[in-house]
Amino acid sequence: MDDIGEWSEQKLELLKLYLEPYCKIVGGNTSTFKCISFIDGFSGPGCHHRRTNNEEIIDGSPLLALQNNRFTEFHFVEASKLVIDELQQTIIHRFPYKQNIIKYYNNDCNLAIPEILKSLNSKYDKWTGLVLLDPYKTNINWELIENIGQHKSLDVILNFSIMDIQRRFGHITSDTIYEKSMKDANDFFGTPEWFKIGYEKRVIDLTKGEQYVKIKDFEEKILEFYARRLKQRAGFNFVSNPLPFRNSQNAKVYYILIMSHHYLGNNLIEWANKKFIK
Ligand SMILES: C[S@@+](CC[C@H](N)C(=O)[O-])C[C@H]1O[C@@H](n2cnc3c(N)ncnc32)[C@H](O)[C@@H]1O
Repeated sequence: MDDIGEWSEQKLELLKLYLEPYCKIVGGNTSTFKCISFIDGFSGPGCHHRRTNNEEIIDGSPLLALQNNRFTEFHFVEASKLVIDELQQTIIHRFPYKQNIIKYYNNDCNLAIPEILKSLNSKYDKWTGLVLLDPYKTNINWELIENIGQHKSLDVILNFSIMDIQRRFGHITSDTIYEKSMKDANDFFGTPEWFKIGYEKRVIDLTKGEQYVKIKDFEEKILEFYARRLKQRAGFNFVSNPLPFRNSQNAKVYYILIMSHHYLGNNLIEWANKKFIK
């Protein structure tokens, strides 16, 4: 079990807040949808220790989803064998009666989720679900986002890891960014264009002449660019305003974005955002 900070607890509160009405709205529509799936791309161990009080245990995203009876299937993806074994043990103990509707995938979510979607498409005429993408880093390939977007009834909750972006692709000048990080950024944004959005040619050191320098409102512009692509390229009709989550030093760790194709999904996004911010 890992330790989590307050900002992760807040993210789980938001998920909990969203899940209940989501399940009511979508789950009330069983005549249309034969399957309502919860797909967790970065499942984690299931439970976490509260960092400020190690005795206290907090339910992680898989357990929060399992508490809702409207989901008809659960797909838990986790890259670490050790972590997924721990998750499976926790679930067997807490939800023994749900074993037959749960599948585990010890794999990279960029590979596992397309396979899950393919198999659900071949099994059901009409199905829907909620996808949670909650990584520590920016290791969600854009290709995956487009793949999920093509399925017109899936809602998505996505962790946009701004701290990782700043650390690896948001340097003062671009010449200190590793080649591998550049490639990762291109995979995450699905295009090298992010660089033109976030950097401009300028002189900040006369001895070096013109360099690519990070723009002043880098964070805002890069977020706007990603959100625009979620609508224009991945085809989501509704993308929430990004909700920032900060660590104990008040630094932004990530933003949560919620995407939907349906106006009811959008109502839900607005409701959850408002309730959460209060
Ligand atoms: C932030 S944690 C998830 C926490 C979980 N959503 C929760 O709230 O309880 C991220 C998890 O993703 C796993 N992970 C990292 N890279 C992955 C990948 N490419 N595919 C699937 N899982 C990955 C890590 O081992 C870690 O357990």
